[in-house]
Amino acid sequence: MKIDILTLFPGMFEGFLNESIIKRAIESNKVNINLINFREFSHLNNGQVDDTPYGGGSGMVLRIEPLVEAIESVKTDASRVILLTPQGKTFNEAKAKELSSSKHLILVCGHYEGFDERIYNFIDEEISIGDYVLTGGEIPAMAITDAITRLLPGVIKEESHANDSFSNNLLDYPTYTKPRDFRGLKVPDVLLSGDHEKIRQYRLEEAKKNTLKKREDLLK
Ligand SMILES: C[S@@+](CC[C@H](N)C(=O)[O-])C[C@H]1O[C@@H](n2cnc3c(N)ncnc32)[C@H](O)[C@@H]1O
Repeated sequence: MKIDILTLFPGMFEGFLNESIIKRAIESNKVNINLINFREFSHLNNGQVDDTPYGGGSGMVLRIEPLVEAIESVKTDASRVILLTPQGKTFNEAKAKELSSSKHLILVCGHYEGFDERIYNFIDEEISIGDYVLTGGEIPAMAITDAITRLLPGVIKEESHANDSFSNNLLDYPTYTKPRDFRGLKVPDVLLSGDHEKIRQYRLEEAKKNTLKKREDLLK
């Protein structure tokens, strides 16, 4: 899969692309992630990409030409162009799964007051990462790229995400590791029993209890 991220601040992605699972996924060619600074598509001498809003009001609006030309520089018939905006449909695990089967995603990060409204003629969909407003689309782009990349074949073990929260409408079951006893807090006996069927049943029950307690809405 290829993901092109259109951003004015590529430096924000340095840590994200160069650590841990995402770094390994890139190195092993499971995913190809490119950063495109759409300032390079500015029509103005000083590289300006924003301007004051028609009709007045505060803040700066991203101009349409650099954005559209940056999109067109990478777009193919297989591309899905996603605008990151708090006004979009809220991202979730089901959406991550759906997007993980795409060949090519183009993620467009806004900044300042947002986009010239005419951008909507050049995108396929809008995605939000939640009902709050961030300074830019870079953190949403990282969140979405991360959630998709970990689902790509061979990035992490299939069984690692098969029981993750939100798969099967359940939250994950509780997990423990060594020591067996920490200040009197003990690991449940069943997990030390070696009985795989009992462990499977215990985990399923705990996942249901966990979901009922924390996210009853998922069970509906
Ligand atoms: C300050 S925000 C603009 C918000 C815009 N004026 C509004 O109220 O809808 C700047 C940029 O950050 C990104 N952004 C902010 N919050 C976001 C969210 N919850 N999900 C996705 N992108 C977000 C978008 O790309 C947006 O264009």
